[in-house]
Amino acid sequence: MVTLTSIVTAAVALMVGAVEAAQLTQVQYPNNATSKPQMWIYVPDKVQPKPPLVVVIHSCQSTAQSYFQNSKIPWKKGSDQKGYVTVWPSSPHSGTCWDVSSKRSLSHNGGGDTQAIANMIQYAGDRYGIDRERVYVTGGSSGGMMSNVLAATYPELIKAVSLYSGVPAGCFVSSSGGVAAWNNTCSGGQSKASAEAWGNVVRNMYPGYTGPRPKMQIWHGSADGTLAPANYGETIKQWTNVFGVSQTPTSSINNYPERNYKTENFGEFVQGIYATGVGHSVPSNLTASEAWFGL
Ligand SMILES: *[C@@H]1O[C@H](CO)[C@@H](O)[C@H](O)[C@H]1NC(C)=O
Ligand SMILES: *[C@@H]1O[C@H](CO)[C@@H](O)[C@H](O)[C@H]1NC(C)=O
Ligand SMILES: *[C@@H]1O[C@H](CO)[C@@H](O)[C@H](O)[C@H]1NC(C)=O
Repeated sequence: MVTLTSIVTAAVALMVGAVEAAQLTQVQYPNNATSKPQMWIYVPDKVQPKPPLVVVIHSCQSTAQSYFQNSKIPWKKGSDQKGYVTVWPSSPHSGTCWDVSSKRSLSHNGGGDTQAIANMIQYAGDRYGIDRERVYVTGGSSGGMMSNVLAATYPELIKAVSLYSGVPAGCFVSSSGGVAAWNNTCSGGQSKASAEAWGNVVRNMYPGYTGPRPKMQIWHGSADGTLAPANYGETIKQWTNVFGVSQTPTSSINNYPERNYKTENFGEFVQGIYATGVGHSVPSNLTASEAWFGL
């Protein structure tokens, strides 16, 4: 028999459920940078004790909120399944590309977007009890470029990176110091340099740093018409040089993790995944990125 009490109880349970269900939430964070991107965070209902953190960085024309809702960006699902926290920075620039071109963002504590995101990582660590040894970064397109630049400018904060369809750190540098400027030479695949020169670009973003660096997983599509596929090889040159390993793969696997993709390992810390026939941007593979992070 349906009683009034049981109806009320069910309604209250529904309301409580609605209130408690985890949501993407904007938080104010102490930010000592000149740049002021927004910080959004998702803490799943069943969060692990001392949870890992994944920073998920959106592409141009996107925002934290729309990237979070994008079904091709599966990190909410991963967070719900595995109980880690995700932080979603939101770009303050017009067109919402990230600043990967100005000196201030291309420098450790230079005051740019990178420093603001570093502040988000620090704040999430303090406020949500994050395991600082398990902080990871991912992103696509402009977010992929930013992932490379964050790895170069804040290596001490990040354990591993999985980036989709980006360019080498520093490749989008603006000769006039432009903030969040587009760079046709780099996007067109004409920015070529030796491995040593690309490695120096990274080292010069944080001079004197000798500590550990995040391991890098680099995805790119062979049919990318926005950020030319040549950027794949240049990014591999950059990070193999930083890790002091050969540009010849130590192992490679065809048709992995998907058909027409090729996975190339360059020792333990650099992995490239080249997707033949795939354009801009390569869709995130949650399983493969989580595996790279050890999640
Ligand atoms: C500003 O924030 C950065 C990144 O979190 C940190 O490394 C730096 O020490 C901070 N600087 C000051 C003066 O607090
Ligand atoms: C574009 O980036 C390259 C390095 O990749 C740099 O040499 C060049 O000056 C940049 N172009 C502009 C217009 O800033
Ligand atoms: C993602 O990668 C895993 C291996 O890590 C693979 O089994 C899976 O098929 C890939 N996912 C998609 C959607 O192709």
